[in-house]
Amino acid sequence: MGNINPSVDLQYHNAGHIALVVMDNPPVNALKHELRAGIAEALAKAAADPAVEAVVLTGTGRFFSAGADITEFNQPRRSPTLHDVIAALDAMQKPVIAAINGQALGGGCELALGCHFRLASPHARLGLPEIKLGLLPGAGGTQRLPRLAGVERAVRMILSGEPISAQEALADGIVDAVLEGPFPDAAIAYAERVVAERQPLRRARDREDKIEAARRDPSVLDKAAAPYLRRARGEQAPEFALRAIRGAIEKPFDEGLQQEGQLFLELVQGEQSKARRHVFFAEREALKIPDMPKDVQPWPVTRAVVIGAGTMGGGIAMCFANVGIPVEVVESDQAALTRGLERIAENYRTSVSRGSLSAAEMDRRMQFISGTLDFGHVAEGDVVIEAVFEELDLKKRVFAELDRLAKPGALLATNTSTLDVNAIAAATKRPESVLGMHFFSPANVMRLLEIVRGKATSHQALATALAIGKQLGKVPVVVGVCDGFVGNRMLARRTTEAERLLLEGALPQEVDAVVYDFGFPMGPFAMSDLAGLDVGWRIRKARGVKAPVSDALCEAGRFGQKTGAGYYRYEGRTPVPDPEVERIIAEASARAGITRRKISSQEILERMIYPMINEGARILEEGIAMRPGDIDVVWVYGYGWPAWRGGPMFFADSVGLRQIRDRLKEYAERSGDPLLQPAPLLEKLVAENRGFGSLAPQRLAT
Ligand code: 3HC
Ligand code: NAI
Repeated sequence: MGNINPSVDLQYHNAGHIALVVMDNPPVNALKHELRAGIAEALAKAAADPAVEAVVLTGTGRFFSAGADITEFNQPRRSPTLHDVIAALDAMQKPVIAAINGQALGGGCELALGCHFRLASPHARLGLPEIKLGLLPGAGGTQRLPRLAGVERAVRMILSGEPISAQEALADGIVDAVLEGPFPDAAIAYAERVVAERQPLRRARDREDKIEAARRDPSVLDKAAAPYLRRARGEQAPEFALRAIRGAIEKPFDEGLQQEGQLFLELVQGEQSKARRHVFFAEREALKIPDMPKDVQPWPVTRAVVIGAGTMGGGIAMCFANVGIPVEVVESDQAALTRGLERIAENYRTSVSRGSLSAAEMDRRMQFISGTLDFGHVAEGDVVIEAVFEELDLKKRVFAELDRLAKPGALLATNTSTLDVNAIAAATKRPESVLGMHFFSPANVMRLLEIVRGKATSHQALATALAIGKQLGKVPVVVGVCDGFVGNRMLARRTTEAERLLLEGALPQEVDAVVYDFGFPMGPFAMSDLAGLDVGWRIRKARGVKAPVSDALCEAGRFGQKTGAGYYRYEGRTPVPDPEVERIIAEASARAGITRRKISSQEILERMIYPMINEGARILEEGIAMRPGDIDVVWVYGYGWPAWRGGPMFFADSVGLRQIRDRLKEYAERSGDPLLQPAPLLEKLVAENRGFGSLAPQRLAT
């Protein structure tokens, strides 16, 4: 409890010379109104107190401050704003020193930039992650950072949103010193020196030296920004941030600051930032299980076992090694084991050759990975993840063995993408320990982890899987048991519709262009070519389902990129539209008795997106997902849905559910496909004039 208000404590040190202002708003010191008001009041007191000669500003816990309170963005602004507080810091006539005890992010970093001196503890990190929320630093960051660190560093931090270490901040001139001693004592001692030596106040706003070069040569800025803008296709925030930084170079400080404020305001009120903020909170909500008792503790995981050294098993093993958890890969086949371990080493070597991993770090990670043909080694795992061939009988046999050999209490997970997790769990006498951990390919890269909760899965098993997911740096989402779980089940609707579009008159490149322009990294056909058409062909044959175009391509030996041809032909990895494919498609249309027609981009887009939303509604109805936001997280992190469009369910609300319902009805009638008929939940929400966002979290139907 602070003495200024519950979030701020004002202490006096060294016979009242040094005023220490402590921010204390757990868990991250977000700069909510009370905290801002408290800092302003503490500063005013320190300014008015003749005994005080310097002020040190610091935070409690792991955070200096993680920035503005994002939940306040939807509310009217209240004074003092962060802008007001920083202006007050900047204008103080006594030295104000930021003692950056931990992470200083966004507005928290800007608060520090507004101080006259900055000290960091060795484990402090500084960052401006606003871009990840569809924003730009709106409290002076775009003006002060270039002045302190130069334009290139400022562009990198602001446009990547990635934080830097205290040591890097020191090298770039962002902090004045990294102090080894205990905080805040070391900072107070430093403040005493500043006072004793009568050091002049160093205001970032007065610095010009580091922006001189960019003033003389404006191309410096564009060159630094180009790679980030390329990656941010369709997004507003990076362009706006660049304009704000340009203001720092071209305009006097106060004008640049004012422009930054206007650009921030426009972004914060816009749809793109709302969408990204939705994803931020949805990702955190997804970790909350409504029926999870508070006292459930995850099992500690110090050793992992992965069964199967194939595409997925290898990638999953890398995930553990990457965070320093020893992992053993158990195989049934020596050649597959050797191949698998070699593929892991090869993946790391590629990272080393690209410069994203050091050779020493590669060696360290490889040391965490071992391989064996001895199934008995599963007894050593606190978690065992099975990634053998996708065959139910095989998986059941593996789990029966696991039941016999795994240590009591171990988490037993299957990476199956299509099989019934309950049936797999039933092969053991401990189904409470069994669940699905559905990684996405490549498992060491993709961040989504669908955790599939079986009907017998215990809370503790679930909590452990969530904790492992977090530990591995994944974004876990808990889902129920059904064919395809959340992601692939919705994707299947898009795949069916994409095939139908081809038969009716569209070409792969037309469909892909629409989906790409929407913001996906690639369209459905380029994606199928990458994944391999033979996978789906095999599944369809087993299920007795037909997809005339895809089947015809497979029959012609066109399995996608791996055979150099699929929906496209490939020049290296570049897809090129192929007249041969047009011929195959036209023949398929003719065989189906369809007269081909020109299909508009709008129709293509609706048919690529709305059927997935409809399936999302069914998934919610059936209790396969707990919240619409969980579905959004699945799509953003597993399938490249553009985060600035918030995920399919958020997007649906922004389009309007009535419009989506009406269009689906029309497409259902035209095609005769009952799956396109609006889901009852969609109808219900339309009737009640509500959006998906109004739905309360629900328990999974297991
Ligand atoms: N505002 C409000 N709540 C915040 C918050 C913020 N800036 N940052 C984190 N939280 C909340 C989270 O929602 C979560 O709440 P919950 O427990 O109820 O789910 C809680 O704090 C803990 O957060 P995490 O679970 O994410 O904790 P981690 O330790 O894993 O991560 C973090 C901490 C790195 C700070 C991460 O939360 C994060 O990235 N936060 C956002 C930081 C950010 O983007 N700051 C810029 C804000 S915009 C701004 O400052 C504008 C300015 O330029 C004007
Ligand atoms: P894969 O065919 O590349 O690898 C399977 C490996 O399991 C082979 O090396 C095989 O020798 C080994 N194996 C078979 N029986 C075994 C046994 N009894 N004990 C130990 N090892 C055994 O398959 P892939 O693609 O890695 O898939 C594995 C699982 O992951 C499947 O269930 C699949 O559905 C799922 N999955 C696959 C994805 C993908 O994109 N490939 C994505 C997500 C899940």
